[in-house]
Amino acid sequence: MDLGTHDKHALVLGASQGLGLATAQALLTEGARVTLSGRSPERLEAVRAALPAVQRASCFIALADLAEADAAAVISARAQERGGPVDILVNNTCGLPPGKPSAITSEAMASYFSSMVTPVIALTLNLIAGMRMRGWGRVLTIASSGVVQLITHLPMSNALRSTLVGFMKSLSGEVAAAGVTINLVLPGRIATGRTRSIDAAQALTSGKSADEIAKAPTAIIPAGRYGTPEEFAAAVTFLASSQASYMAGGLVRIDGGAIRSV
Ligand SMILES: NC(=O)c1ccc[n+]([C@@H]2O[C@H](COP(=O)([O-])OP(=O)(O)OC[C@H]3O[C@@H](n4cnc5c(N)ncnc54)[C@H](OP(=O)(O)O)[C@@H]3O)[C@@H](O)[C@H]2O)c1
Repeated sequence: MDLGTHDKHALVLGASQGLGLATAQALLTEGARVTLSGRSPERLEAVRAALPAVQRASCFIALADLAEADAAAVISARAQERGGPVDILVNNTCGLPPGKPSAITSEAMASYFSSMVTPVIALTLNLIAGMRMRGWGRVLTIASSGVVQLITHLPMSNALRSTLVGFMKSLSGEVAAAGVTINLVLPGRIATGRTRSIDAAQALTSGKSADEIAKAPTAIIPAGRYGTPEEFAAAVTFLASSQASYMAGGLVRIDGGAIRSV
């Protein structure tokens, strides 16, 4: 199947590792020009340096910290300066801390809101105007299975990602007729450095091994295992493709069946 991504420019946030990196690599493999965004020049340059030469020539870097007030404008300008108009936007951000809902402070809520909700909305609005004009665009926002089946120890994530779901779903209805599709992607448990470090931290406090800690979440995943970043990236790349032109406003689960509801 020709995904029709070879003449497209994709901007991937949080592309230095994990889900963002795997998605950027998959889009490069499908021939897209890809701008990697993140905070660390060393990590992003290392990702770029490790690419095959032909992909390296189509890979650019837009350095920015999403927590900075001008992040959306900076990323948009840097990405388009090198890679041209952005056709595919993959919104991927930091993870959120665990805790009890009653322990959340308004300061922490405001701080995370301004580093993972405000800039994502601002960047999406910034880039979507050009997508509408050109009659083609894809916006994929990586949320979490927790927006459908709440993750009890991640209330901040449940709350803030649900805000993004509400916004993206609303915007998708406005732009779908212009050839711009907006979808949300809901990872369940994907084996990235982040999930490994969460398991390792729990292992440290419980005296168990990280493998033992992973047994409980694995047991409730019908697929019987964590997903791989490559499996996640393959699904996102399909959603970013020309072939996914009639998929709009969806919440697409990539969770091995972990979410129980229909
Ligand atoms: N993995 C899973 O199973 C899973 C499940 C549900 C939801 N999620 C969510 O999906 C997202 C990606 O997951 P992951 O496992 O790939 O996480 P990860 O390995 O921690 O990657 C997060 C990425 O975000 C970037 N980032 C973090 N803070 C940033 C900031 N302030 N400004 C710009 N970039 C920033 C990081 O880059 P630098 O640090 O280099 O800047 C990194 O590239 C996270 O939001 C996570 O909570 C993941």
